[in-house]
Amino acid sequence: MEKPIIAPSLLSADFLELGKEIEMINASEAGWFHLDIMDGKFVPNITFGFPVIKQIKSLAKKPLDVHLMIEQPERYIADFQQAGADILTVHYEVVNHLHRVIYAIKENGMKAGVALNPHTPVECLQDIIRDVDMVLIMSVNPGFGGQKFISQSLAKIARLKEMIVDAQTQTLIEVDGGVDSSNAIDLVLAGADVLVSGSFVFKSENPQETIKNLKAVKE
Ligand code: DX5
Ligand code: ZN
Repeated sequence: MEKPIIAPSLLSADFLELGKEIEMINASEAGWFHLDIMDGKFVPNITFGFPVIKQIKSLAKKPLDVHLMIEQPERYIADFQQAGADILTVHYEVVNHLHRVIYAIKENGMKAGVALNPHTPVECLQDIIRDVDMVLIMSVNPGFGGQKFISQSLAKIARLKEMIVDAQTQTLIEVDGGVDSSNAIDLVLAGADVLVSGSFVFKSENPQETIKNLKAVKE
């Protein structure tokens, strides 16, 4: 089994020291930067937009994994590509024509992800799983960092992994929300390929060590 990709969520970073936080991640064992974009409509919070993403991109030496928690994400696909997104994930719950959106993301040169809220069953992706580069399982309700992990997510990940294996596809499984050293091993054993971690990484005394330990969970 592969070691997981660790994707620290900048939502919990110190925005007054963003340059330093990015350099810290560049020098760490993290694989990606996870960027949470919220619109105050789909989720009850607002984060940041294109000017900030562009500045992050100018320093980041690793792919930008952009998690859109916004309505009508199809309106902004090209803009996110221009801002520097490498992986663009939209929420299943806000998209009427998912197949079209997935292909629009790919045509814009990015990897395409679909995120599922805690109440959305993985089975809804059965007929599109081969077209999707990554599925993001929300293990908290989207909107805020620092929430408690919903343990039902483990069973969802296991079911999704089975679906991916059956379909003989390479789709990655990302898990986002409440990830820490107490659940990382179970998540990887259930089938997670990418662990997003915000508060656990940035609020720890030594974030680089925390990232290293999350990645080493599966020796
Ligand atoms: C929540 C975001 C997460 C968040 C995770 O809506 O999608 O990426 O930053 O934060 P933690 O790891 O603190 O739960
Ligand atoms: Zn996220």
